[in-house]
Amino acid sequence: MRYTRMPIEIESPEEKGYSTIQYNLAESSVRDITLDSLNVDLSGILLFYGEHKGMYKLRQAIIEESKVLTPEDVIVTAGAAMALFITSTTLLSPKDHLVVIRPNYGTNIETPRAIECTISIVDLSFEHNYEIDVAAVAAAIQPNTRLISITNPHNPTGRVYSDETLRALIALAEERGCHLLVDETYRDLNFQTALKPFAAELSDKVISVSSVSKSYGAPGIRTGWVITRDQKLLHDLLAAREQITLCNSVVDETIALHLLTHKEKLVSAHHEHIRKNFAYLKEWMAKQPYLEWVEPQAGVVCFPRVKAQYKVDVEALYDKLYNEYGTVVGPGHWFEQERTYMRIGYGYPHHEELKTGLHNLEKCIKATLL
Ligand SMILES: Cc1ncc(COP(=O)(O)O)c(C=O)c1O
Repeated sequence: MRYTRMPIEIESPEEKGYSTIQYNLAESSVRDITLDSLNVDLSGILLFYGEHKGMYKLRQAIIEESKVLTPEDVIVTAGAAMALFITSTTLLSPKDHLVVIRPNYGTNIETPRAIECTISIVDLSFEHNYEIDVAAVAAAIQPNTRLISITNPHNPTGRVYSDETLRALIALAEERGCHLLVDETYRDLNFQTALKPFAAELSDKVISVSSVSKSYGAPGIRTGWVITRDQKLLHDLLAAREQITLCNSVVDETIALHLLTHKEKLVSAHHEHIRKNFAYLKEWMAKQPYLEWVEPQAGVVCFPRVKAQYKVDVEALYDKLYNEYGTVVGPGHWFEQERTYMRIGYGYPHHEELKTGLHNLEKCIKATLL
């Protein structure tokens, strides 16, 4: 493996220093919560090696809403990040081939690069509403393709793929004998529409990945999961998981169980906040002159771009935005896109912070026009 640090991590708010940022529109989660706010009793926890697949009750809570899945189909991991890592390292080697959608969450492209497998990238475009071109995915599949990789709801655009698209991709994976990874880390942030089944319910060729980071505001407990009905694959994923940290932190798992047990109350409160911020963002997008977008459908991020008739000094834009306005967004290069694109996170900031942050962004674009 040849590891490379990605710009999205090097330039992330936590690496820059949260105290240096006033208006943080670069996050892809809701606001981080405090342990105090949960009223969870941690006093009796036995600090033992937990079950390697993850605490049974937690695995049960993860798939509770499903009539198809069982706790045996789940492995708890250190965040979705670890779930994605063990999926890539289990399925891919330098002899194998991956078809991956871009833009995407960086890890979904970078870990396969570190493995040095062959990669076909299927690029999404603004002009096509960031729809997945299933025919392009089909054309990219080779005899040694082991994995097709998508994110749904999509990061950074907030697109939700239709049942038809998902079914077509699943059919491709089944026909061509590979797996479909659906990174569903934003699944519980479907704040406008009813929740769909976990993708892993639909076929044993599908791998679903998610976590408590984005929708509960608890990335600090590093708890995520991978779900698949393919027991052979699950066995291999468990081997990878055991060789990294054996099991999870039992403290983190206890907190995660508390979160999932109170899912309805906690997540619906976050949805309310997101809806309010999203309504403001939509209004702002319609009024400001410089940016255009494909309106997001779920999650907490969108991916607008500067309209072609405006030429902006992008280097100066992001520097000035941070240094003079205390405001950050996610520049396009975090996603291997032009820097005239930017990811705006609207779930993390408090309402007033979002308003000021967007106002600052508009002023800063104006100030950096060429
Ligand atoms: C699509 C996607 N997948 C996975 C992750 C990693 O999340 P976690 O904090 O659960 O490791 C992120 C984080 O930004 C993400 O956006």
